[in-house]
Amino acid sequence: MVRFTNKYKQEAKKFEMKPFSGARKTSWRSPSNIALVKYWGKHGIQLPQNPSLSFALKNSFTETSVSYSFKKLEKTELEFLFEGKPNITFKNRINKVLAVYSEYLPFLQKLNLEIESKNSFPHSSGIASSASAMSALALCLVSIEKDLFGTLNEKKYFFQKASFLARLGSGSAARSVFPGFVVWGEDKKVKSSSDEIAVTLQTKIHDKFQKLNDAILITSSAKKQVSSSQGHDLMIQHPFAEARYEQAGKNLKKLIQSLEKGDEEKLIEVLENEALSLHSLMMSSNPGFTLLNSSTWQIIEKVKQFRIAKNLMLTFTLDAGPNVHLIYKAKDKAEITTFVASELVQFCENGYWIDDQMGSGPEKLI
Ligand code: PMV
Repeated sequence: MVRFTNKYKQEAKKFEMKPFSGARKTSWRSPSNIALVKYWGKHGIQLPQNPSLSFALKNSFTETSVSYSFKKLEKTELEFLFEGKPNITFKNRINKVLAVYSEYLPFLQKLNLEIESKNSFPHSSGIASSASAMSALALCLVSIEKDLFGTLNEKKYFFQKASFLARLGSGSAARSVFPGFVVWGEDKKVKSSSDEIAVTLQTKIHDKFQKLNDAILITSSAKKQVSSSQGHDLMIQHPFAEARYEQAGKNLKKLIQSLEKGDEEKLIEVLENEALSLHSLMMSSNPGFTLLNSSTWQIIEKVKQFRIAKNLMLTFTLDAGPNVHLIYKAKDKAEITTFVASELVQFCENGYWIDDQMGSGPEKLI
């Protein structure tokens, strides 16, 4: 059950850190991802209550670079810059995650670290950056391990460990280290799936769904009243918890079938059921909360009308926030972009939306 946890803890004991001179640097770009079957509710140490499925985005990403040198003094502080400036909130979060990583990467305590990070999308745009940020950091840290100890030379093991570490930073980040459709959470229908790491969905995806786009409509950039970690916690006592976990399993099965068969109706049914179920869980928790606003609902109505009128595969999903992700086939881009510009941009804060699409996963920059 905790196969990777034990393996990485054992491996950690073998790292023998030798002093080295000068500073070295590694840098990764890692994308955000959009979940089609949602992860909501966790247990143990960042383990999901149900499997989730997402795809990697292309234009919404974080770039992180880590400079590291051998620590001569025992106590030195982490240096962290976000978009060129110190950011105490993010620095505290990174310090917390680094403390968790000390069990798996104990050599980090012997390094001076200077971390710089920036996002491709504006900060406070309402786009959650934890998946891209935590996966970019995890990728940098496994690169450091590889550089210092000559481990993780096989691509498969490198990305497995990155996914494992990313998950400890933010659950959904586990999925960001892989391209294409990705599953996180054990499910008997998905080969090699695990609660500890994400895996690429190894199935033949129908041609229709090889290239999906995501138009992210920002209806509000205000900070969320309830964070996703508070939301996950509210699932512990949730009266619908068991039914939800069962529903997610069934939706995963339906979604995989629809991706294989090219069944557009089923895909729409699952995506919208997942998005609305996620927000119903928030509303029916104790205390209940809602993250959606009137623009979210107006966009949803318009999308449904447009889909019927044009007979196009246009559907939506929602993250833990009021912004709407329009999912559609890349070949319909011109028509959907015109629809967004003429009918939906009025509901976006300052007319802001992000034109995104399926991406090819993270990229090593240095
Ligand atoms: O990774 P977290 O803890 O921020 O949770 C993400 C939860 C959702 O975005 C709502 C769903 C998901 O699977 O990404």
